Amino acid sequence: MTPKHEDMAEIIRNHHILQEQLLSWYDQNHRVLPWRARPKANRPTPAYHVWLSEIMLQQTTVKAVIPYFQKFLRKWPDIQDLANAPLDDVLTAWAGLGYYARARNLHKCAQYVVNELNGTFPTTVNELKQLPGIGPYTASAIASIAFNTPAAAVDGNVERVLTRYLNIKTPIADNKKDLSKHAESLITDIMRPGDFTQALMELGATVCTPKNPSCMLCPWRDSCAAHKHGTAASL
Ligand code: ADE
Repeated sequence: MTPKHEDMAEIIRNHHILQEQLLSWYDQNHRVLPWRARPKANRPTPAYHVWLSEIMLQQTTVKAVIPYFQKFLRKWPDIQDLANAPLDDVLTAWAGLGYYARARNLHKCAQYVVNELNGTFPTTVNELKQLPGIGPYTASAIASIAFNTPAAAVDGNVERVLTRYLNIKTPIADNKKDLSKHAESLITDIMRPGDFTQALMELGATVCTPKNPSCMLCPWRDSCAAHKHGTAASL
């Protein structure tokens, strides 16, 4: 079942309420993570930190990433340091995280940003997507978290949240475009794009979990279609 037209209209009408519900939940319930600025921080996390954490988090859990993220920043405090490091040192430091293509692309990307872009990351999703190792999801995550621009970063967690919210029963792959559209409509006129992106990820990681979701703790419980229909656990 794809969401009915009226459901979509409802979401768009309600998107400010949904944003506020999610952001105030996030303000009170976010995990403190080394790559995360405190909510409402005046200064967003440096793009280098956001990029490094997002690449590491692509196929690895938060818990496993934390010590690697800290080690990388100790060894290479800024992107120039990482670009100047021998590739072998980067691969050695990466050992244990797996998916080594990520480490090779990380190094390539650092060199490109330093040598071709004066050490400064581009700020738009389209430009970010051109860089090695950065796909649509990571580009949107960096654009919103580091540069506070409205961009919908839809990863597996966010897909699950939206699939449940809309009570979509067809397999996720068929709905990717729809889900991105819904995510885009949710972030229209967003007040705090970076916090919103992280709040949506956080909801998926800590409340709207794959098994046994904690619907009682969810800020969107009252308007979630899966909760209403009792299907959250099975979607
Ligand atoms: N997974 C992917 N990006 C993340 C982030 N910024 N914080 C927590 N989990 C994530």
